[in-house]
Amino acid sequence: MGAMNDLFDTVDDTLTTVSLASATDLAGFRLHARRLLAAHVAPAQVSWHCRDAPTLDLFANGSLEDQTESATDANLTPPPALVTVPADFLALCQTVILHSDPQRFGLLYRLLWRLVHEPGLRHDPLDADRVEAARLAHAVRRDMHKMKAFVRFRPLEDEIFRSQPLDGPLHVAWFEPQHHIVAAITPFFVRRFSQMRWAILTPECSVHWDGSRAQFGPGAHRDEAPPADAGEQLWLTYYQHIFNPARLKLKMMQKEMPRRYWHNLPEAQFISTLSASAAERQAQMIDSQPSTPYRRIPIAPVSAHVLARGQPALTRHEPFTLATLKDAAEACRSCPVGQHATQAVCGEGPVHPRLMVVGEQPGDQEDLQGRPFVGPAGQLFDQALAQLGYSRTDLFITNAVKHFKFEPRGRRRMHKSPSQHEAAACLQWLDHEISLVKPGALLALGATAAASLLGRHVAVMSERGQWFTRFDGLRVLVTLHPAALLRMPAHDYEAAYSRWLQDLRLALNDPVTAR
Ligand code: URA
Repeated sequence: MGAMNDLFDTVDDTLTTVSLASATDLAGFRLHARRLLAAHVAPAQVSWHCRDAPTLDLFANGSLEDQTESATDANLTPPPALVTVPADFLALCQTVILHSDPQRFGLLYRLLWRLVHEPGLRHDPLDADRVEAARLAHAVRRDMHKMKAFVRFRPLEDEIFRSQPLDGPLHVAWFEPQHHIVAAITPFFVRRFSQMRWAILTPECSVHWDGSRAQFGPGAHRDEAPPADAGEQLWLTYYQHIFNPARLKLKMMQKEMPRRYWHNLPEAQFISTLSASAAERQAQMIDSQPSTPYRRIPIAPVSAHVLARGQPALTRHEPFTLATLKDAAEACRSCPVGQHATQAVCGEGPVHPRLMVVGEQPGDQEDLQGRPFVGPAGQLFDQALAQLGYSRTDLFITNAVKHFKFEPRGRRRMHKSPSQHEAAACLQWLDHEISLVKPGALLALGATAAASLLGRHVAVMSERGQWFTRFDGLRVLVTLHPAALLRMPAHDYEAAYSRWLQDLRLALNDPVTAR
């Protein structure tokens, strides 16, 4: 053991203590574990600790802060050669180390030791240590999953918002994870909410995203998160309305939404009362008369030959108005997309606008609300317009394809781009809209809109930001679809967004079309 003294501290003849820099110091753990292994220090002889929680280990022996060394200390000798372990062992360590169990380091080192000394272990998935490590990893993954599902942001009108309201408020959430998962889960929230400024406060640490950088800070207290606002009231009303008493499965619900999360979930306040009245409400539903389903799309498809003759989908002799156009588009079955959508989504805005903006097709939100560009892509577009001093009510906003094309995935409806044939079948409605709206110019958002408006394939990235003239003399400017910006990696976003603004500015401030 003498040779070990410069590396580890020996508390007594049999116990070597190791102090890691933090509760999730994987690099430190790996380095120490390799050294211990090289020095033939058996797992039972090692006591693991974290500097930020010096008494974590159940077998702690006295104060450790000054006795031990961490992997980050400069005076450590170089690590010994790598040991060979199954490929998934490192991934297991990465997850297990996030668990709050103080014994996790001991368990992982024991597994490492045994993988090296007991070749049969890798073929024994029922070994008690392996089962325990898998259990810890599962608990960490579940905690991460729950954090993704149960974080609830509330807007806070902070200093930045007061000086630059267009950047939006800071969204703050309070969450109490069971394990040390905040840093590991941060990339998910950065990807998911890259457009807004947010902070997640937890008792152990906090993370703050300012739109370009995530910074970690100390733990916080629940009271530091803002109180509920009007948006939350809306969510609570919505939650109560979508609660279906006939589908209540209390045990399953508690499994998916364990009680320990309830006190931070605003909607949880209703679970007891809604559940208590579920049986009675269900009985009332069974007893009541059937209601007429709200079905806006006629069941019988409009025959293809009517459309092929160039007739509108509904037999009309009078010229279309924007309102009757919507009815006709709704009944259109020139392609299969309309069959599955909730409704046709036609354009909205003033006639004779300086600009008519054409997107690809309605998305999930647009399909439900019957209005174009009200979902995430629309919100980004509204934000850009506001930055340029415009509002969507100044423009006519529509889509090349009028029905939402999607692919069901579980309960979600995933956007599917329309095919060329589908976009071509929908062109009749777009052309009618253009002739009724009489815009000064057209702005094509993305390739589908550009192809529909110009009648040819358009390479958006190389043809963006330029004016083209259509067969009818109308000018068309092509740029990216806002959804393309939303999908962009965070590091490309800022430059892409400001270039997009330039395109929009060009379209909006065009002196030829200004009205
Ligand atoms: N994407 C579009 O192209 N249009 C919408 O209306 C919404 C999202």
